[in-house]
Amino acid sequence: MPSKVSCLYLLTVVCWASALWYLSVSRPSTSYVGQLNIPIRKAPKVNKNSTFSNIRTRSLNPHDFGYLINEDKKCEAEPPFLVILISTTHKEFDARQAIRETWGDESTFPDVRVVTLFLLGRSTDTVLNQMVEQESQIFHDIVVEDFIDSYHNLTLKTLMGMRWVATFCAKAQYVLKTDSDIFVNMENLIYNLLKPTTKPRRRYFTGYVINGGPIRDMRSKWYMPRDLYPESKYPPFCSGTGYIFSADVAELIYKTSLHTRLLHLEDVYVGVCLRKLGIHPFQNSGFNHWKMAYSLCRYRRVVTVHQISPEEMHRIWNDMTSKKHLKC
Ligand SMILES: *[C@@H]1O[C@H](CO)[C@@H](O)[C@H](O)[C@H]1NC(C)=O
Ligand SMILES: *[C@@H]1O[C@H](CO)[C@@H](O)[C@H](O)[C@H]1NC(C)=O
Repeated sequence: MPSKVSCLYLLTVVCWASALWYLSVSRPSTSYVGQLNIPIRKAPKVNKNSTFSNIRTRSLNPHDFGYLINEDKKCEAEPPFLVILISTTHKEFDARQAIRETWGDESTFPDVRVVTLFLLGRSTDTVLNQMVEQESQIFHDIVVEDFIDSYHNLTLKTLMGMRWVATFCAKAQYVLKTDSDIFVNMENLIYNLLKPTTKPRRRYFTGYVINGGPIRDMRSKWYMPRDLYPESKYPPFCSGTGYIFSADVAELIYKTSLHTRLLHLEDVYVGVCLRKLGIHPFQNSGFNHWKMAYSLCRYRRVVTVHQISPEEMHRIWNDMTSKKHLKC
């Protein structure tokens, strides 16, 4: 009896050791998880509970954060034409309110269904979390995932938006991802660019396209360490200030991100995922990466303008809606 047991024990140890050796030899240094598939299947038959099955299915970024606040019924009644995802931070109460009362108002267009959502992580300040919770109970337009809300986690915020669309609003037609200091000319966006009466596009992505490379100066806001991104060029990407895509792209990017090394620059990261997917972002001159002084005729031609304060948002919106009859 004892000899049988020890024999079995020895066999198990040998199996494990050889399997581990196999894995360590074949594991590529770039940690591309997909390549692990083949060696694992060849691994000796250890019992099914072994950690190998975990290695095979484990993602690089599982993104399995729970929802602290969710609005999972927003798309249930009727799929929207456009979902607006606004990356925001806890303290920007005024900015969120200005957007709700101006271009983000879901009821502006009687013939086009729009869903507006503000994206947040969890603040380290409990009071701020409670205030957002109360705001959410009034407006029902906030989604919060359980990761720490910080500048370095902005990519997680974008991915959370993609995941939300893929999970709760997959039948939407288009998605706008933007920030809380952006003015959006919704009329131009909906009727001149997206055109509700035309055939919906697939694998569509547009915005202000940047063809750039990593900044290696550590003082820069956009510093990118060489070990995180060694290449000298970024793939073409759309400025994070505002980009539009067909809703099918949300799931594609979310799934691609699960096995794509995270970069803290969210717009660059989305560009990296698009390159993997073979989707090319279109340049559209209506998207403005920089601030642009207000004039009625200028703003009629834009889709997005950056660096607009809540007060300016109200002023611009009021001026544009009250002067619809004026010709330029
Ligand atoms: C194997 O998995 C089953 C259920 O999945 C569990 O009950 C059992 O304890 C596991 N055995 C080992 C050795 O981990
Ligand atoms: C990002 O969020 C994760 C999950 O909450 C947290 O562990 C990490 O510290 C955050 N990173 C930064 C830079 O805040």
